[in-house]
Amino acid sequence: MKALVIGTGAREHALVRSLAADPDVDAVIAAPGNPGMDAIALCVPVDATDPDAVVALAAEHAVDLVVVGPEAPLVAGVADALQEAGITCFGPSAEAARLEGSKAYAKEVMAAAGVPTGAARVCTTESELIAAIDEFAAPHVIKDDGLAAGKGVVVTLERDAAIEHGLGCLAKGDDAQVVVEEYLDGPEASLFCICDGTTVVPLHLAQDFKRVFDGDEGPNTGGMGAYSPLEWAPDGLAEEIVRTVAQPVVDEMARRGTPFTGVLYVGLALTARGPRVIEFNVRFGDPETQAVLARLETPLGRLLLAAGRGTLAALEPLRWSDRSAVTVVIAAKNYPGTPVTGDPISGLDDLDGAYVLHAGTARDDDGVLVSAGGRVLSVVALGDDLEQARTAAYGAVEQIDLEGSHHRTDIALRAARGELSA
Ligand code: AMP
Ligand code: GLY
Repeated sequence: MKALVIGTGAREHALVRSLAADPDVDAVIAAPGNPGMDAIALCVPVDATDPDAVVALAAEHAVDLVVVGPEAPLVAGVADALQEAGITCFGPSAEAARLEGSKAYAKEVMAAAGVPTGAARVCTTESELIAAIDEFAAPHVIKDDGLAAGKGVVVTLERDAAIEHGLGCLAKGDDAQVVVEEYLDGPEASLFCICDGTTVVPLHLAQDFKRVFDGDEGPNTGGMGAYSPLEWAPDGLAEEIVRTVAQPVVDEMARRGTPFTGVLYVGLALTARGPRVIEFNVRFGDPETQAVLARLETPLGRLLLAAGRGTLAALEPLRWSDRSAVTVVIAAKNYPGTPVTGDPISGLDDLDGAYVLHAGTARDDDGVLVSAGGRVLSVVALGDDLEQARTAAYGAVEQIDLEGSHHRTDIALRAARGELSA
């Protein structure tokens, strides 16, 4: 099998790494890819949000499977164009990708499917916005309806700040909408559900660290680290989420004539009243994927191809390592603000018990590896338990040199200490 992975980040590097290790995969092409993937994949440029360009590339290389990493190409219709061209794609159609592209649409599907989630109001005017903010107690949760690159959600105790963010969302255009939601209290978890339009196969649960500083302080980021599995979560939680969330959503999408293929990423709050959906994404999460795939022993190509072809029901049960995985993100100076880029990165060789996945990296004119984005690297380590995995991951982080870079020091710390429960 030949696989094409669309994207440039550490999530895509993790996908490429697992596909390259699959005995059934003869070649991996990454577009556009990044310098870290170079050794295991053929990296070629593409405009990932141009469906025709992706189809042409897939046809040129006669690939059997296209795996789309980020949401933007899916929302732009890349999966639809591939399907029309008869090329198997792992990723949903543009219509099904609205589960991530519009929070109001996701709420509507959840309501129709009877999925547990926070109460919410979709607002289109200032008066609706203020009425909704006053209807729910603080903390206020205000969400831009559309894709906002991680900047669309504000959670705040300040009524004025809530109104200001909501008005900012409404000012984006005549058909702008904002979602005001009940605050959900409890630890968060991510579950990636592999879907083929009918059948749902869950991966193992993971936890992401969204705030930039230790102790969940500071602004939101794309994710500063992750770990898997969640030993503190109740037994059978993933199966419960499939039964109460993923399967009803997949059934509802099929009923609407827009079947869901790809990853349904269920972002959950584990509240005292039970799990509640915080959000859906229609692609793998970054950086959770780096930790989850580190433990998956079933060859990835087989799994994603079965999802793309609609044959998941016939797949043997997934096999997992019983070790724990921790991912720590090394971010550029000033991230999540405008990152400082172009600085040399060193110390990536001979890391003990850990490996590095690239995200915001590039080669300069002299071939030196330099920073080129906000989240620069994901360091991944496995251990017999979370403590061991943390030690290995942080040992590697200390060896890597990038001027001004920063990372969180508490990824998986509370879980390793047994301080979490649900
Ligand atoms: P999202 O972009 O939907 O992932 O939201 C970003 C972050 O905002 C989530 O990871 C949560 O930490 C927080 N958040 C979103 N919705 C809620 C909610 N209803 N209650 C509490 N926190 C929320
Ligand atoms: N880890 C959060 C995301 O991928 O959206």
